[in-house]
Amino acid sequence: MRLQSRFLTALLVLLGLLSCSPREQLMVIPRPASVQMLRGRCDLNNAPVYESKDASIPPEGYLLELGKNRIHISSSDDAGAFYARVTLYHICRQYGAEAPAMRIVDSPRFSYRGAHIDVSRHFFDKDVICKQLRMFASLKLNRFHWHLTDGTGWRLQIDAYPELTAGIPHYTKEDVREVLSLADSLHITVIPEIEMFGHSEEVLAVYPELRCGGNPEHPSEYCIGSEKTFEFLETVLGEVIDLFPSEYIHIGGDEANMAVWEACPRCQARMKAEGMAEVRQLQSYGIQRIEKFVNSRGRKIIGWDEILEGGLAENAVVMSWRGEEGGRKAAGMGHDVIMTPGSHCYIDAYQDAPYKEPTAFGGYVPLSKVYSYDPAPEDMPGREHVLGAQTNLWTEQVPVPEHLEYMLYPRVFAIAEVDWSPAEGKDYSEFRQRALFRLKQAHEDGYNSFDLENEVGERKEYLEPVQHVAVGCPVSYETTYADSYTGGGDSALTDGLFGSWTFQSRWQGFLNKDVIVTIDLGETKDIHEIKADFTQWRTAWICMPVEVSFEISDDGVNFRQLGTEVGGFDLEDLRPMYHFFSWNGDASGRYVKVLGRINERKWGWLFIDEIIVN
Ligand code: ACM
Repeated sequence: MRLQSRFLTALLVLLGLLSCSPREQLMVIPRPASVQMLRGRCDLNNAPVYESKDASIPPEGYLLELGKNRIHISSSDDAGAFYARVTLYHICRQYGAEAPAMRIVDSPRFSYRGAHIDVSRHFFDKDVICKQLRMFASLKLNRFHWHLTDGTGWRLQIDAYPELTAGIPHYTKEDVREVLSLADSLHITVIPEIEMFGHSEEVLAVYPELRCGGNPEHPSEYCIGSEKTFEFLETVLGEVIDLFPSEYIHIGGDEANMAVWEACPRCQARMKAEGMAEVRQLQSYGIQRIEKFVNSRGRKIIGWDEILEGGLAENAVVMSWRGEEGGRKAAGMGHDVIMTPGSHCYIDAYQDAPYKEPTAFGGYVPLSKVYSYDPAPEDMPGREHVLGAQTNLWTEQVPVPEHLEYMLYPRVFAIAEVDWSPAEGKDYSEFRQRALFRLKQAHEDGYNSFDLENEVGERKEYLEPVQHVAVGCPVSYETTYADSYTGGGDSALTDGLFGSWTFQSRWQGFLNKDVIVTIDLGETKDIHEIKADFTQWRTAWICMPVEVSFEISDDGVNFRQLGTEVGGFDLEDLRPMYHFFSWNGDASGRYVKVLGRINERKWGWLFIDEIIVN
């Protein structure tokens, strides 16, 4: 039986009817939609390449045929022909002089295949950007979202406002033209982002007249009540539109502190004049005015998902970053969306065990997590409005180009495949092999990367449930956890499951207060050990407790102290930490109380997961 099926397989391969034997695995990223291995070999050094146009091939798609003595490319557009050549390049690189004959029919799942780089927090010069564009194009990415402005520095020459870039590293318009010229040749559209109405400390520092009145301590929001703000932004956007050919201009729109506008007499006057009841509508007013201006110049806006609040501008594209909710909502309303949820697409996060990684910003987003993302699952209403997905690389913790590449690769490989390849047939372990193969080439080409080969992976405690005396026992809370970090609710601390490397998974968060919880063991038990798992993520304002005390009781009313472990952790240390605060000894009782003490200022979060009793 076994022999028979092997014989059949061999026969089918010989006849060219089985698409790909493992030995002949094409190592291309992103995985093409369809690859059919054929009989015979193609002489890559000598076979001429013919090109033709075929209007029936989808946009950016191609047909690539490697015959014995000729190679043929068909596409309906220049981008498709370009991507066929990209694939051919990778085939040549994989096989050398001779590749199997094959037929590849390929086209992208999404029209927007993006990567974002923040050049405000740390500046990366035009050569660094051009180098990444070459890699992006080789992955068939076609959008580069250039985060040019933020509170830490304005990075684009604006002729009307030279003070924006005086004395700091930035791109001249000539630099930008150079980048744009390369991008154009690589079929990449560069989307510039000019942040408003928050994240603008750097502008307000040099043009204080654009600040709100009445609150000099909050210099990160433009004053929406002032006409000067619109004069400034329209002048800037005018120069940006003259420079960048992109149909879309990103106008930011995230994380404005609206309290600033609440306190500003000019903003209040504007709200009154426009009949607005809520300050969110003021933001929406600002975005809609800017949208009208951008539209009047023949372009459209993209904004972070906050632009949904207070009424969405008419033709705006929403970039969903605070999870997928904003994207889903906007898509359901018929707006085009780009998916960049922090959970899967924020590659400023750790990509491996935090103890061995350079300090990162967000949670834990390994390669497998990016790869697992589906920007438009079948059950998503309005999924036809999903243009595609994008990784975002914020650079607070990314000071140099080598580190930039370390954070980008290989996670950008995964988003390229998410964006290009069919959702069917995803296989992470197979992808990982291709990623390792591709990383070797990237190193030969002078790129740095994360060391995927020696990846440690998820926290082992997270992967293995534990058994202990308190599993399944009810927990009562003297202090309450936050709705945003329930860890799974009231059973989270005794469910036998630990938190992940990331505080976003299974951890329970307490804001500006102690953790005081009591476990009811159901009956009096002899106990010898209590351990409470805490984590610190200073970049997310999560701190270790200064001490954790353990108490025991027979009646749930009168408690005896068992012991206290003093933390002694550096609460300013940005590197994530994990620690089991514990007590060991001999005691007996029914109720176990754990008291995790927050710092004296009662500032920040405490994050706890399992409490183990043995
Ligand atoms: C963002 O990460 N604030 C868009």
